[in-house]
Amino acid sequence: MRLLPVPHLLVTLLATSLPAQQPSLAPTRATHAMVVTIHHDASDAGLAILKQGGNAVDAAVAVGFALAVVFPQAGNIGGGGFMLIRDRSGKTHFLDYREKAPAAASRDMYLDAQGNVIKGLSTVGQKASGVPGSVAGLAYAQKHFGKLTLAQDLAPAIRLAEEGFVLSPGEVANLHAARLTQFPESARIYQRNGDFYQAGETFKQPDLASTLKRIAANPDDFYRGAMAKQIADFESRSGGLITSADLAAYQVKDRKPITGDYHGYRIITSPPPSSGGIVLLESLNILTGYDLPKVGADRSPAQVNLITEAFRRAYMDRGDYLGDPDFASMPLKQMADPKYASAWRKTITPLKPTASADLVRPAGFMPPAPKLPETHESTETAHFSVVDADGMAVSNTYTLNFLFGSGVTVEGLGFLLNDEMDDFASKMGVPNGFGLIQGPANAIAPGKRPLSAMTPTIVTTKGHWYRRAKLRYVLGTPGGSTIITTVANNIISIVDNGLDVQQAADAPRFHHQYLPDELQVEKRFPINITDQLKTMGYTIKRSGEFDENNPGVWGDCELIAIDPKTGELLGGHDSRRDFGKAAGY
Ligand code: DON
Repeated sequence: MRLLPVPHLLVTLLATSLPAQQPSLAPTRATHAMVVTIHHDASDAGLAILKQGGNAVDAAVAVGFALAVVFPQAGNIGGGGFMLIRDRSGKTHFLDYREKAPAAASRDMYLDAQGNVIKGLSTVGQKASGVPGSVAGLAYAQKHFGKLTLAQDLAPAIRLAEEGFVLSPGEVANLHAARLTQFPESARIYQRNGDFYQAGETFKQPDLASTLKRIAANPDDFYRGAMAKQIADFESRSGGLITSADLAAYQVKDRKPITGDYHGYRIITSPPPSSGGIVLLESLNILTGYDLPKVGADRSPAQVNLITEAFRRAYMDRGDYLGDPDFASMPLKQMADPKYASAWRKTITPLKPTASADLVRPAGFMPPAPKLPETHESTETAHFSVVDADGMAVSNTYTLNFLFGSGVTVEGLGFLLNDEMDDFASKMGVPNGFGLIQGPANAIAPGKRPLSAMTPTIVTTKGHWYRRAKLRYVLGTPGGSTIITTVANNIISIVDNGLDVQQAADAPRFHHQYLPDELQVEKRFPINITDQLKTMGYTIKRSGEFDENNPGVWGDCELIAIDPKTGELLGGHDSRRDFGKAAGY
């Protein structure tokens, strides 16, 4: 591929003023297996299962249930997510256990009589929840791909719920969330009715422990048994929409991951209803035509410019075309077409932004874009990565959507319900809290899955035959609309710029999503670089800039690399969160 020239003098000038990298610790090393998650107790749970002879899927299932106990703001059994699995022979599966809209959901359910969005209805309270998929997803993964029993994989989570775990200052602060206070059962469990937990106290969840025990005995109880009835009864008396029929109809989808190539690597990633994989591949396809390290160093203005322009273009397509594949047909082939990427590249000017308002899609590739509506995505999710001693890998991202989901705990069962309905488009043409504008493919409909940005991803070498390809990286992150650019930036940091997984996890993040037309950067992003980007014409939005209590960071990338020379596993845990851990043996 021909590499595009960039004005040489300017590149030299810009490349000399590199961002001061935050000092990063070395990656955690292990010779057999590795688990990296946002919570040390969950990482230890996964590690214990691996040491008991479980494989990567067993460990992932153990982590998934353990995070539902120790990281209730996003770890869950009342939400949903995606699990990407690559087994030791190289076969891949993408388990879609995303929530589904209840049968009573309808396109305009969050609008008032005047057609305006009713603030908060899709984010807080009983009407915000989709039919949860996490129990079905984790149980499906265990049954089809695990080696131990579901009861074995659930044992650490049950123990953590029953015996409790010690709260850190950060976790205690999170438990003050206002949306929990609004709902008596949530206020009772997480806030002791106002007698808030203190750092160092042990937090026990007996209701959740007994729910997990029932799931261990029979996961189908959640969907078709006595537990399903308890959930449906609670929904009906509290004004929720989820019925026994919705629960009974829930199904996990075992989908084919989407794949693409980037600089000699194969990227295995998330298909719809995630928008993540295709937007990631479209961005990387555009960037594959550049020699980024020649253009400038990691996070230099010249690199940030090209990467941002790729994001801008891929996010434009995301908004216009993507939704649930079971409901909408999408031009995925066209979006992933290298010729399309090459046509996009011709519209990028080095060292200069294209205004989103002026962006014109190259002619002759894509079908006409349907008209624009709106949707929401947002702010707490959990990603974890696992590799076992046989080289089986799991990349899992799951969520309640916002912090603590809808805020509603199912009475007697001790778990929070999601507010994933907010990921649908509520109204045409109105940008959401994240400023995202998306297409009719993502309108609300009964039984439909909302479009997601979650992008669990696995990177291998590019063998001609997939069995020969070697596992190289496992990664993913939370972060709502920033998930895809964070995954892309980590791949670019590693593949193009030679950062190790810990440096990549810790590197300051930047993000562009087409609209609003602003380059978002973390608070820690070097000011000398953003000053130069401003001079080039970018509008910069620095996260948490005017709030000293806001750390101004996003995401939580949890990565594993396999050292090609020694076969060692290298874990990169995102240092933005102080209670996570890369655990290996
Ligand atoms: O599925 C999605 O894309 C969103 N519900 C994810 C939300 C999220 O990542 C919030 N995390 N920080």
